[in-house]
Amino acid sequence: MTTATARAHPNIALVKYWGKRDEELMLPAAGSLSLTLDAYATTTTVSLEPSAAGDRFALNGAEADAGQAERVTRFLDLVRSRAGSTARAVVRSHNEAPTGAGLASSASGFAALAVASAAAYDLDLDREELSRLARRGSGSATRSLVDGLAIWHAGDDDASSFAEPLEGPAMSMIIVTVDPGQKKISSREAMRRTARTSPYYTAWVDSTARSLEEMAAACRAGDFTRVGEITESNALRMHAAIQASDPPIRYLRSASLAVFDAVEQLRADGVEAYATADAGPNVVVISRPEDARAVSRHLAGHGEISIVGAGPGAQLITEED
Ligand code: PMV
Repeated sequence: MTTATARAHPNIALVKYWGKRDEELMLPAAGSLSLTLDAYATTTTVSLEPSAAGDRFALNGAEADAGQAERVTRFLDLVRSRAGSTARAVVRSHNEAPTGAGLASSASGFAALAVASAAAYDLDLDREELSRLARRGSGSATRSLVDGLAIWHAGDDDASSFAEPLEGPAMSMIIVTVDPGQKKISSREAMRRTARTSPYYTAWVDSTARSLEEMAAACRAGDFTRVGEITESNALRMHAAIQASDPPIRYLRSASLAVFDAVEQLRADGVEAYATADAGPNVVVISRPEDARAVSRHLAGHGEISIVGAGPGAQLITEED
């Protein structure tokens, strides 16, 4: 093929990925587990341009900045070396996530790029191989290849570090955007700083490996309560390790903590909800699907709210010669 288009969705981790054991291969220090969402898709078209001198990358209709373009080229270099091709490409990517919603667009972005570029360069990869390929672009992208709940096995080499589906209880996610404008330190830089300077980093990695096993068992048992409890404690442990970095990094603001407080109050009132947060101030609350409306009403004063559910892994949409 010379042109291929793929679509992928972001995912939100219930057991977080934070820290690498191998930066080159993008092997995580511990495994993680997430839900691929049914909203905020990235759609990416890769067209081979054999006569072009370099790659081009347009994001939401505008030429991407140099840093983003270089990341895409580094990823395409990997695909080209596997395909035995030197052809450059034009990459056009469109992101449905509102800017600043705090949804890691790198997950949907690199998952869509992995599927579209593999097809454009005629690599015949199965889902597991595509998950491994997406990992090289961004760790969290590893999981966006999978429908719904995904477990990313940390692995100890390129072949063993990929995501696969797992059964679990039905759940909704209520995304609470408390601060759409917040500038954040990139997850890559913050992970490095945490690993190098946080005295809690080793404890974080050890406890996450244990939480992942417990989380996988709770998912298989369909135990929503335990899934929620592990989700919230794992997120708070990640932020504790990050905050202990030198110089400190605080992603959670007072508005974020107010959502954690409100979620605790919901539980005290008998509605099961649990909070988590990524590398930014916004909070994602999980609930049983039938409670999602009540939870979102309760959190309405805390920011922009959207309710999302489980969605499909990255897919090829069209291919043409
Ligand atoms: O792969 P990255 O650079 O998007 O890092 C993801 C980090 C977290 O979102 C905080 C956790 C996770 O597992 O998604």
